[in-house]
Amino acid sequence: MPGIIPAETIESILDRVDIVEVVSSYIPLKRAGRNLRALCPFHHEKTPSFMISPDKQIYHCFGCNAGGNALSFVMQYEKVDFLEAIDMLAKKAGVEIEHSASGFKREDVSVKTKLAKINELSSFFYHKNLLSLSDAALARDYLKQRGVNEAAVKNMRLGFAVDKWDSLLEYLKTKGINPAPANQLGLIINNDKGGFYDRFRKRIIFPIFDIRGIVLGFGARVLDNSLPKYINSPESPIYVKGSHLYGLNFSKDAIREKDSCLIVEGYMDFFIPYAHGIDNIVASLGTALTKQQIRLIKRYTHNVVLMYDSDPAGELATLRSLDLFIEEGMGVRIVSLDKGYDPDLFMRKFGVGAFKDRVDNARDLFDYKLEFLKSHYGSGDIQKKAKIIDEMLVTINKLANAVVKMDYLRRLSEELSVPESAIMQEAAKIKSKYTDFAMSADRDKNRLAKFQNNPIAFEKLLVGLILQEEELIHKISADISPGDFQDRQLGKIMATVFELVRLGKTIDPHKLLHHFSDDAEISSLVCELSTKEEEMIDREKAVKECVARLKKQGTRNTRDKLCEAIKDAQRLNDQARLTHLLHEFNDLVKGKVF
Ligand code: CTP
Ligand code: MN
Repeated sequence: MPGIIPAETIESILDRVDIVEVVSSYIPLKRAGRNLRALCPFHHEKTPSFMISPDKQIYHCFGCNAGGNALSFVMQYEKVDFLEAIDMLAKKAGVEIEHSASGFKREDVSVKTKLAKINELSSFFYHKNLLSLSDAALARDYLKQRGVNEAAVKNMRLGFAVDKWDSLLEYLKTKGINPAPANQLGLIINNDKGGFYDRFRKRIIFPIFDIRGIVLGFGARVLDNSLPKYINSPESPIYVKGSHLYGLNFSKDAIREKDSCLIVEGYMDFFIPYAHGIDNIVASLGTALTKQQIRLIKRYTHNVVLMYDSDPAGELATLRSLDLFIEEGMGVRIVSLDKGYDPDLFMRKFGVGAFKDRVDNARDLFDYKLEFLKSHYGSGDIQKKAKIIDEMLVTINKLANAVVKMDYLRRLSEELSVPESAIMQEAAKIKSKYTDFAMSADRDKNRLAKFQNNPIAFEKLLVGLILQEEELIHKISADISPGDFQDRQLGKIMATVFELVRLGKTIDPHKLLHHFSDDAEISSLVCELSTKEEEMIDREKAVKECVARLKKQGTRNTRDKLCEAIKDAQRLNDQARLTHLLHEFNDLVKGKVF
């Protein structure tokens, strides 16, 4: 059935919906580490074993083995077929499906779709103003002078609102749009006499898109130094502040490709670098980043670089908010520009090379925070050091990986010349978890030891770790091939993984699932392995250990088979074959320890 709708359409729908949004519109979810947990809607249970992975965009129930992506969830939950589910998701994602082979009728367009349509009309209205009105000459000059080229104006659909009280109001009227929904969007505002007037006047207009390219609202800047510098759309049924990031619709592919995302504050800080090829960039539009925004980025990369005005974390509060990245298991680095510079100004003054240099040399949160605290508190006496340690431990405490944690604690002890044991004691106070640090390395070993006589367990662990942490594939791809897997299904999964890697594609489990849409068992296995929380601490080491086991086991199997064949050849007195097999045997055992 999936053949009826082109795979790209399905992929683009899946790209635009968030499994967490989809599932949470049906059942309540609770956070559980990197994942979300719920009571499984597909079987009766009292303790939740239904897991959703926002990273992987899939779900899996450890109770009943139900699992899949957003699409399969809708199918299972709504009890609809593939095409109906696609259609439902397409609506959510705002993707037009050319033909609907099932022939069912589209429901009425929802309120949200209508509101989005009004925003879209308005965005094009403002955009045309900017491109063609003589009244907009000043705005065109302004943008030009600030280095925003025509490509950016067109690509980001920049616009201009003329200096009138009713220009948009009148335009919307000609389009047959009632004031009420436009008012709901904040495009027009009630006046005292029961009428309306335009919110945006004599300003450059920046449409704010969501990840699908839908216009959620607008920002509007004055052309001079008057105040307020920006006026923004209020929240509306389609615009919830703090849940989107400016520019992500333009930059998400580049972010995924470059596996890194540059976060800046303002519109200009977005446009100028973007125009110079720094296309893995988003703007936070001057507000503190929220968890939701961070998770949005996390769908494309785990690595962010923040580049804010001169002192990005000028305040401790801002600095603390960066811990959100750590909580989400992401790497965060910071560029601090010299006083008086923002990314826009920096790039125009020093050029793209210098800009890239700064990004490449961004400091990680640990170093940045430590330096900030040292200059903030001073680090002369032990009291001050204690304060710094307290503050640093808040961040370090949020690291999920115990080995990394240990390393940071060691570095903290070195940097402040405070004995590691003292820091460990403080850390232990914050969370008793720290006490089992020393045991952490042994824990991995113990777990692996349990698999000793179960080669399939090693294969499963290996595939699971790779599905959960894509980068790991690159550490082992030279040493192993799908043929090394004894388990047929795991071998099949790995064959697809290798193929995707060869094509330079990402191995998102929800996309991987496509390749197995006709094999429910493998699909379920992919989901299970990608959502299972692997407790391995040093994952790279664990993966390598698994590979070593597989190779050993593989060689053993080959050797056993060869021995059998040799016996056969001897029995049949087939000298030619025997010589050949013995050569093979010698090659195999050469230098290998069994
Ligand atoms: N902002 C806002 N309202 C304000 C000031 C700022 O909404 N009164 C938001 C805007 O989205 C702006 C971002 O915060 O892009 C960053 O603010 P700021 O650094 O002051 O503005 P810039 O984007 O740098 O604007 P410009 O360079 O044009 O002065
Ligand atoms: Mn600026």
